Amino acid sequence: MSGPLLLHSLAEFREIIFDCLDVVAPRSLVEVGAEDGTFTVELLRWARDHGAAVYAVEPFPTPAITELAERWPELRLVEERSPGALEKLEGADIYLIDGDHNYVTVRAELEAIFDGGGDPPRLVFLHDVGWPSGRRDMYYDPDSLPPDAVHTHTHEKGVVPGNHGVVQGGFRGAGHFAWSRHEGGPENGVRTAVEDFLAAHGGELRFATVPCVFGLGAVYPASAPWAASVDDVLAPYADNGLLARLEDNRLLLYLTVIELQDHLAQASTVVDQARLERRDVDAENRALWARTAELEHLLDARVQDLETKLERLRGEMEHLARSRAFAVAEGISRARGVGGRADSHLSRRRLRELLEATRPS
Ligand SMILES: C[S@@+](CC[C@H](N)C(=O)[O-])C[C@H]1O[C@@H](n2cnc3c(N)ncnc32)[C@H](O)[C@@H]1O
Repeated sequence: MSGPLLLHSLAEFREIIFDCLDVVAPRSLVEVGAEDGTFTVELLRWARDHGAAVYAVEPFPTPAITELAERWPELRLVEERSPGALEKLEGADIYLIDGDHNYVTVRAELEAIFDGGGDPPRLVFLHDVGWPSGRRDMYYDPDSLPPDAVHTHTHEKGVVPGNHGVVQGGFRGAGHFAWSRHEGGPENGVRTAVEDFLAAHGGELRFATVPCVFGLGAVYPASAPWAASVDDVLAPYADNGLLARLEDNRLLLYLTVIELQDHLAQASTVVDQARLERRDVDAENRALWARTAELEHLLDARVQDLETKLERLRGEMEHLARSRAFAVAEGISRARGVGGRADSHLSRRRLRELLEATRPS
């Protein structure tokens, strides 16, 4: 099996989006947030076949998207942040909003797109209207936003479904983005931005949601000539209970994978530490073995030396025990000590016993 563990691209909605493109027949499309161009290239194929232009708004272009811009005359890469970039672009027929997933950005993007009443009518797809960004701001670059529009946030902690705060572990940005520290409440999240925008713009806009792969929203005027056809495309998927359950399950499984990966990373750290300690112990052991060998060598030499000396001493004692001088001395000693203790006399017998005792058994 291959492929990404976590589906996250707009490309996963290709059947829905291209069916909508076929009925709207746009002359121009804008993708906000192109990342590595996974979906951009599919949009470009469609655009080439239908004589349309594609604008990709991406403030942090990857080499892949830059290369696409060089190869495809249909693509114009706008290396700026949205919504500022949108305000400068000419109105397009279709927008795919998938950039900075937070309230202030998405609300301003919708304002920019529908500024002037939205004529000709626009179809806007918005990614991430479901969990986790639907009701919680995510920030790629919080310092680039107006400070009073940014919730207190964290780059380190993660989020899990059902917990409105943040947690150690969980689904997190790994340095790429930050989460608002709380979920829900006013002016928080992509879906909230869409709902507030719709509330402020009366009932002429429709909003449908496909509840999977982080949620796809579609906003379009009910009066558009193609609105009924777009309704038909979206109908099987919109608010589909089966898709919603599969999404809940997918998120649960993915969060379990993250948890297991975190455990594995902790276990790897412990193993690495143990490996380092073992390396130190091995080095100590080698030093101890070397010292033991050195001492054994010294001991052997010392024993050898002592044995040589002992051998010489034995020879001298043998010689002494056999000498006449010692026999005479023994006689004198015995005569003088008559009546004294027997073991205080000089004695050849004792000398020989001592000699015998020094021989290895
Ligand atoms: C989730 S990715 C887009 C994925 C892509 N649309 C797809 O479906 O394959 C989000 C992208 O938005 C970009 N981005 C972040 N802030 C942005 C902003 N203010 N305007 C436009 N793009 C932004 C990020 O650099 C990132 O590449």
